[in-house]
Amino acid sequence: MSRSAEYDAIAEAYQDSKRLPFREYVERYTLFEMLGDVRGKEVLDVACGEGFYTRLIKQAGAAEVTGVDISAAMIQLAEKEERRHPLGCRYLHRDVAQFEPSRPVDVVVAMYLLSYAGSRAMLYRFGQVCYAALRPGGRLVGIKDNSQSPLVSSASLAKYGIERTSAAPSAEGDAVQYTLANEDGQTFSFTNFFFKPETCEDAFRTAGFREFEWVPVAVHPSQRTDPFWDDFLKDPPLIAFSALK
Ligand SMILES: C[S@@+](CC[C@H](N)C(=O)[O-])C[C@H]1O[C@@H](n2cnc3c(N)ncnc32)[C@H](O)[C@@H]1O
Repeated sequence: MSRSAEYDAIAEAYQDSKRLPFREYVERYTLFEMLGDVRGKEVLDVACGEGFYTRLIKQAGAAEVTGVDISAAMIQLAEKEERRHPLGCRYLHRDVAQFEPSRPVDVVVAMYLLSYAGSRAMLYRFGQVCYAALRPGGRLVGIKDNSQSPLVSSASLAKYGIERTSAAPSAEGDAVQYTLANEDGQTFSFTNFFFKPETCEDAFRTAGFREFEWVPVAVHPSQRTDPFWDDFLKDPPLIAFSALK
């Protein structure tokens, strides 16, 4: 299945998965901690999906937010939401690997883009596109799956709605299959690709980024004493990163 068709088939289930607690208390919290104050900023949300973060970033006061995604169904959901509750977000149906921004932005947000680099060449291309999209001094922030975490069975992640259904990857470019279970019990699967952290880092440094760093995900302060999160934090299935142009 092509990259685009995979998300076309699961677009609504993916949108519903944003109600899972890890989305709000870990994913969203970690992203906004890294983003800091976005008021007045111009932001590009690459692999924006159905615009979940595109909207939140605009609502947090960004001057302009553009979302780019390869899946027509995801972009349709994003545009439908924009029509229902206009925020001024702009969406483009494009492959990030082919994307040429019209003018540079202050911040590039890459939530899970890296997980979809099916080849080394694509990973390096994503780095170049993110770099080209930023003005000098601009910042890249994002999250990707942490497929190198030692979990193989991923049994302890089931309570968060996450399951890694393929063996732990051994070689770069290996496919990693995930299944998410939404709160209503609906499940859906998608394929990510494994590249070592040092290869991802090299892709961004080669593109020209400086101060690339991996950032451990964190849980929202309101949840920190809740043992529910212990397994998640012991072996986090997600990892965040940031870099400067
Ligand atoms: C896990 S979803 C993340 C969506 C959104 N960033 C979020 O966090 O809610 C991954 C998205 O990446 C998109 N995607 C994968 N490869 C892409 C590419 N080469 N160019 C643009 N979008 C891509 C998929 O269509 C899908 O919407």
